[in-house]
Amino acid sequence: MDDIKTIQWVNGKVRLLDQAQLPEELVLLEISDHNGIVNAIKNMNLRGAPAIGIAAAFGVVLAVWNVPETDRSGFLVKANKAIDELKATRPTAKNLFWALDKMRNALSRNLNKSIRDLKQALLKEAQEILEDDIQRCKTLGKHGVELLQNRANVLTHCNAGALATGDYGTALGILRAGKQAGKKIKVYVDETRPLFQGARLTAFELMEDGFDVTLICDNMAAFVMQQGLVNIVIVGADRIARNGDVANKIGTYGLAVIAQKHNIPFVVAAPLSTFDFTLETGRDIPIEERAPEEVTKIGAKTIAPEGVKVYNPAFDITPHYLIHAIVTEKGIIKPPFWENIAKLAK
Ligand code: MRU
Repeated sequence: MDDIKTIQWVNGKVRLLDQAQLPEELVLLEISDHNGIVNAIKNMNLRGAPAIGIAAAFGVVLAVWNVPETDRSGFLVKANKAIDELKATRPTAKNLFWALDKMRNALSRNLNKSIRDLKQALLKEAQEILEDDIQRCKTLGKHGVELLQNRANVLTHCNAGALATGDYGTALGILRAGKQAGKKIKVYVDETRPLFQGARLTAFELMEDGFDVTLICDNMAAFVMQQGLVNIVIVGADRIARNGDVANKIGTYGLAVIAQKHNIPFVVAAPLSTFDFTLETGRDIPIEERAPEEVTKIGAKTIAPEGVKVYNPAFDITPHYLIHAIVTEKGIIKPPFWENIAKLAK
């Protein structure tokens, strides 16, 4: 994945790798206004909690990039409106709100500057959010290595990799760091219905990096565990409450339940930008519901009778008591999560 970048700022535009077209085609989208970022996040051309936060930060820069240097009130209106619109794209991932709050703070901190310098200050903030995420993932990855056996047979869900972050990844960052540390790693990848982030994205990025990858349908995970084929489950997170409850891609909760049944450690990997210290439990995490067509169709092909009722929650909540450890850039958090997460909030 070294030569493939998820998000880049290039000459006044944002360049995104179009994840909706992977793995068939490697298409780069050049986006020049913030509506393009709004649409790319809503339509999941770019997805994954840290990645949408980073893209949204650059979206704020795009919103003001061409504002004339004399139009201070227009600049402020455009920046604030863009932040509000970007916040409304997807509700669950904390990183989106975290990054946009950082952009709003950067705006307030630099209000005394000229419009030209304000634009540069916002660009610098967005670039720092990107670089900072890459460093967090690398540090988190190193911390997570101690949880891997020398022969690690890992099950992962959705995509918590380089494609979901600035680079390197969270759950997949641990695997990258583990491989570098000389562990022998075999990865089972859940396909991750309805949008197949596991099959399309995780299998792709791990194979690009030469991992031993085996793809399974979501409903095969219990049998794979019963057969003793995996010794750890590692997933990412979209939002983590103060008690350690974790929102992540739909299907994560089911995996945690069956992992417990088979005495397999269930590990979550996430940077602190995913933690929501304002929420006591996962009950209060907003869960996105997406279009019925994501369930009734696979690509262009309809797979269900017309008019069938559909429920399509994009995330679920895994209760803290099913989680063995949460790996962050500040180290590994073990239960009791309430006390140990509180230490990080300081
Ligand atoms: O709907 P998505 O593809 O944005 O969901 C992504 C996930 O659930 C990831 O596991 C999570 O964002 C962590 S990414 C490091």
